[in-house]
Amino acid sequence: MALIAPSILSADFARMGEEIKEITAVGADWIHIDVMDGHFVPNITLGPPVITCLRTYTPLPFDVHLMISQPERYIEDFAAAGAQIVTVQAEACIHLHRTLQQIRQAGCQAAAALNPATPLEAIEYVLEDLDMVLIMSVNPGFGGQSFIPAMLPKIRRLREMIDSRGLAIKIEVDGGVNVNTVGPVAQAGCDVYVAGTAIFGAKDYGKAIQEMRQKIAAAKSKK
Ligand code: DX5
Ligand code: ZN
Repeated sequence: MALIAPSILSADFARMGEEIKEITAVGADWIHIDVMDGHFVPNITLGPPVITCLRTYTPLPFDVHLMISQPERYIEDFAAAGAQIVTVQAEACIHLHRTLQQIRQAGCQAAAALNPATPLEAIEYVLEDLDMVLIMSVNPGFGGQSFIPAMLPKIRRLREMIDSRGLAIKIEVDGGVNVNTVGPVAQAGCDVYVAGTAIFGAKDYGKAIQEMRQKIAAAKSKK
């Protein structure tokens, strides 16, 4: 089943609790939380104390995307704050294998994200330690950027890599996902769709989610 994970990066930070309540009520599956440190990416967002406060506003899983250097220093803090899925950027991890194990030991699902220029080979030998792979379809740091079409063959290749080995790893796609790009992304083999601007930038969040689900279903039925 396709999972929709609205990215709160595009929500109103001053009303974040209410925004999360609303997005939960209109059918989101996961809440995607972008953590940026001003070092790995040129933007700064939020950390574990904010996530702890937001945890009371929804029963949905928190999908925490760490765009930070040396994420191994903070895994336990994000787990304690209420993350269910913790994603680290492969480029930020000198010992990715160890960090993925650390995430599972902290009781979370482990995921690795790949920047647009990072080849799939970066995760080829750690597949056993992954619950999900996040394909970045923009360069991380900001919402509202355009989807990079060259990521479609990358998603397709990853789907083949996972399926040919009989693994149950999810594929998440993040960046520039909207009603126009979600169809090709679905056809390429995505499971979890992150969308910031396309959902929180819409007047009616529920309608935006429904439209995306319709496009995904239509694209999958064409396959
Ligand atoms: C970008 C973040 C994304 C971002 C996506 O660095 O990882 O999650 O919120 O925003 P949109 O959907 O607007 O491209
Ligand atoms: Zn993200």
